[in-house]
Amino acid sequence: MKFDKPAGTNPIDRKMVIGKATDRIDGPLKTTGTAPYAYERHDVVANQAYGYIVGSTIAKGQIASIDTADAKASPGVVGVVTWENAGKLGTSHWHTARLLAGPKVEHYDQAVAIVVADSFEEARAAAKLIRVQYKRADGQFDLAAQKASATKAGDGADSAVGDFASAFASAPIHLDQQYTTPDQSHAMMEPHASIAAWDGDKLTLWTSNQMINWAVDAMSDLLLIPKENVHVMSPFLGGGFGSKLWVRADAMLAAVGARVTGRPVRVTLTRPMVFNNTTHRPATIQRIRIGSDKDGKITAIGHESWSGDLPGGGPEGATNQTKKLYAGANRMTALRLAVLDLPEGNAMRAPGEAPGLMALEMAMDEFAEKLGMDPVEVRIVNDTQVDPENPNRPFSQRNLVGCLRKGAEAFGWNKRNPKPASVRDGRWLVGMGMASAYRGAPVMNSAARVDIDRNGVVTVATDMTDIGTGSYTIIGQTAAEMMGVPLDKVVVKLGDSSFPVSSGSGGQWGANSSTAGVYAACMALREKVAAKLGLDPKSAVFENGTVSAGGKSAPLTDAAGLSAEDRIEFGDLSRKYVQATFGGHFVEVAVDAYTGEMRIRRMLAACAAGRILNPKSARSQVIGAMTMGAGAALMEELVVDKRFGYFVNHDLAEYHVPVHADIPHQEVIFLEEEDPTSSPMKAKGVGELGICGVGAAIANAIYNATGVRVREYPITLDKFV
Ligand code: MOS
Repeated sequence: MKFDKPAGTNPIDRKMVIGKATDRIDGPLKTTGTAPYAYERHDVVANQAYGYIVGSTIAKGQIASIDTADAKASPGVVGVVTWENAGKLGTSHWHTARLLAGPKVEHYDQAVAIVVADSFEEARAAAKLIRVQYKRADGQFDLAAQKASATKAGDGADSAVGDFASAFASAPIHLDQQYTTPDQSHAMMEPHASIAAWDGDKLTLWTSNQMINWAVDAMSDLLLIPKENVHVMSPFLGGGFGSKLWVRADAMLAAVGARVTGRPVRVTLTRPMVFNNTTHRPATIQRIRIGSDKDGKITAIGHESWSGDLPGGGPEGATNQTKKLYAGANRMTALRLAVLDLPEGNAMRAPGEAPGLMALEMAMDEFAEKLGMDPVEVRIVNDTQVDPENPNRPFSQRNLVGCLRKGAEAFGWNKRNPKPASVRDGRWLVGMGMASAYRGAPVMNSAARVDIDRNGVVTVATDMTDIGTGSYTIIGQTAAEMMGVPLDKVVVKLGDSSFPVSSGSGGQWGANSSTAGVYAACMALREKVAAKLGLDPKSAVFENGTVSAGGKSAPLTDAAGLSAEDRIEFGDLSRKYVQATFGGHFVEVAVDAYTGEMRIRRMLAACAAGRILNPKSARSQVIGAMTMGAGAALMEELVVDKRFGYFVNHDLAEYHVPVHADIPHQEVIFLEEEDPTSSPMKAKGVGELGICGVGAAIANAIYNATGVRVREYPITLDKFV
């Protein structure tokens, strides 16, 4: 099904199942510990051996020699694989650094060997006996030191409209500030894990992955086997946040280990390995300049961002939102990329906007203060309904103003004292802050297959993943709505490359795109059902397990055995319109006047994100993302060892993420919205919106509480002195 013009009224609009707060259908499996995660799949193939990955202890250089003799002789060891005996391997365009080093080493903890043994403990013990001699080369590990050497981050990375330089120079109100965000780790609950088994030259991989089709593609490229020979399954994930968009060393080395030893191999990255072996969100240095007249209308806005990555890597797109969020005739954005020999930088929840808004929305707070205007009003004054870089391109929908007004009202923003450090509650200094939220709403083609059995059970199969987001449930709701059956008459099968190729989970495109694919398949199935039952397909109504049209009706079970597959193919509406999600974050904090200890007291987000398919799981997505944003504001930082080039704090004891005690009451308001240009579902996505801007709202609240402006995230209490 082509989707190239705005959706009219369709069966989803009945909203009998869609749009209703619905418990997750996979909830019981998860809460009873019976959802099968990749590393737990003892049952799927016999004779599994355990792999243990050895990481490089240098950041850059060459492997001079690897002595594996003692490891091979160690009890229980089945084999040891290094670049010398791995056989011929390919490269994948999904990866900047290779998943198995040798002889070249590109980053610390890059895999140099996998030990395969009868037990995990034997593999781990043998791994300690491997002796690697390195020739270490000098690397660059310090973004600030490399800032001057950074170059333009590729074609189309920069943008310019009007004459920024002169408009900024002549603006009566000026802001010119620098902000920094640190390297961050996804820190998902479930580390990367895989089981690989070969049958001749056919590979089966049970893994934890967000994008099944990309995984098939990468495994085919890396192992030099045809795509048809790769079967990937990832029905449950314990989080991804972008770290599992692409297969990592666990998947590749499980497959290579299994190929070399002839045993199915099971591998998990240990928690400490995840931080340096996989990807992270790169640190940024951002300069923001805003100029305006005294009325607060922006006349010039400039945003430059510096980040680093390995040779061949990409920038952190921290200027994304600045291209779209506020009006202003004269504007520029620029991304500068330095070469750093740290582990690979890549996508983490809302890449670009998440760190970009941490800077931009703090700048807007400082700008509001210079103007003597309320921070909410400054944002409203600078609203725009067209792309500020291209006035011919409207937003499909944009209710930022509604989010800000509704959020402010619900939060009690009018009680804020604009004078910093003026509200006391015993030993606590209390403050309020806010920020806008913005995140693009991309779409991806997505396919599904739907069938009906003799009990009237509708089964949906698609290679879509549920990374903890609720995909199972919204896909089930979509099929239930479309086929006119209750949700408990729908079976959803996900995460298997033998199913039709879906959008996968990334960039907050999953909900809208994958359900639209299910919609397309259901439309095809409805046609078949109507034809079989002798009913007019155009007017057929599917309800309560019955199909009726023109005064006739028949039970859906009469269509048992029918099956249909289709795909939603998105046309150019996403080029005609800017499709994006919006929100307003409001936060109250308290800061201990003597110790600087910070406590978040209240958080509220008002979101405009198209039709909300399941208000319950959508709320969970937003509060989870707000929690992640609180981590970004207050605690998360990968500390770089600038001498040796690795992240020092590589476990959850030292890489701090928020716990329940850090997070207060959170409230989420969804504005009524349906976007007919987004898909037949009229939905967008909320998986990433919630993290966007919230860090700055917290920072701004801390400033309001204390009068101290910390522009280097995370805002830890040592920075108050
Ligand atoms: Mo997302 S960072 O595209 O999983």
